[in-house]
Amino acid sequence: MISELFTARLHLRSWRDSDRAPVAALNADPRVSEFLPTPLDAQASDAFLDRIECHWRENGFGLFAVEALDIAQFLGYIGLVVPAFVAPFTPCVEIGWRLAASHWGMGLATEGARAVMHHAFAALRLSEVLSWTVPANARSRRVMEKLVCPTIRPTILITQRCRPATPCGRMSYIAYAPRAGEPRLARRPQFRS
Ligand SMILES: CC(C)(COP(=O)(O)OP(=O)(O)OC[C@H]1O[C@@H](n2cnc3c(N)ncnc32)[C@H](O)[C@@H]1OP(=O)(O)O)[C@@H](O)C(=O)NCCC(=O)NCCS
Repeated sequence: MISELFTARLHLRSWRDSDRAPVAALNADPRVSEFLPTPLDAQASDAFLDRIECHWRENGFGLFAVEALDIAQFLGYIGLVVPAFVAPFTPCVEIGWRLAASHWGMGLATEGARAVMHHAFAALRLSEVLSWTVPANARSRRVMEKLVCPTIRPTILITQRCRPATPCGRMSYIAYAPRAGEPRLARRPQFRS
């Protein structure tokens, strides 16, 4: 199991108990939760972290804690999730991201997400990774767009009404796959029933 990745500026690593306070601060920030169902209080944030750790044990991959290499400061998370809910596009593996607002707009989410995509296709050998958000979340949609590159192609790009309900009742989502010549599917991800 690969539990850490490095990029030029980021260390994507496994979780530590000392992350609980900064994760709670991140999850309580209304800027960060603007397009998410609700900010999380400390108790809900701890439960969220417990689910992340459980997901790693069950699937062998998950959301990485993201740290800035130069200052060794916790910034948030980026990684892969098997969604627990049922939707037209599940079962699937989602790539997701959430970073501290103080570090937005520096290309960090895209940099970390590119490393996770490479990990998903080259190491985990997934055939497809999805990402979605509400249409109003322009920053997240822009990160999705920037992940398309010579080795990663979009396979679906849809805006549609879907459940679970989102603040505006719609979701944009994009699915990615490795281009021909890239590593092919070697095993299917394990999904919870
Ligand atoms: C989404 C998120 C991870 C992006 O992080 P980030 O490090 O700022 O992302 P990047 O810097 O890599 O890319 C952001 C892009 O959005 C663009 N952007 C920023 N504000 C924007 C706006 N209001 N409208 C359109 N584009 C915008 C930036 O210019 C940049 O694109 P560019 O590189 O072409 O200039 C961060 O905003 C976040 O944590 N948001 C809260 C949690 C969240 O919504 N997560 C996604 C849930 S689906």
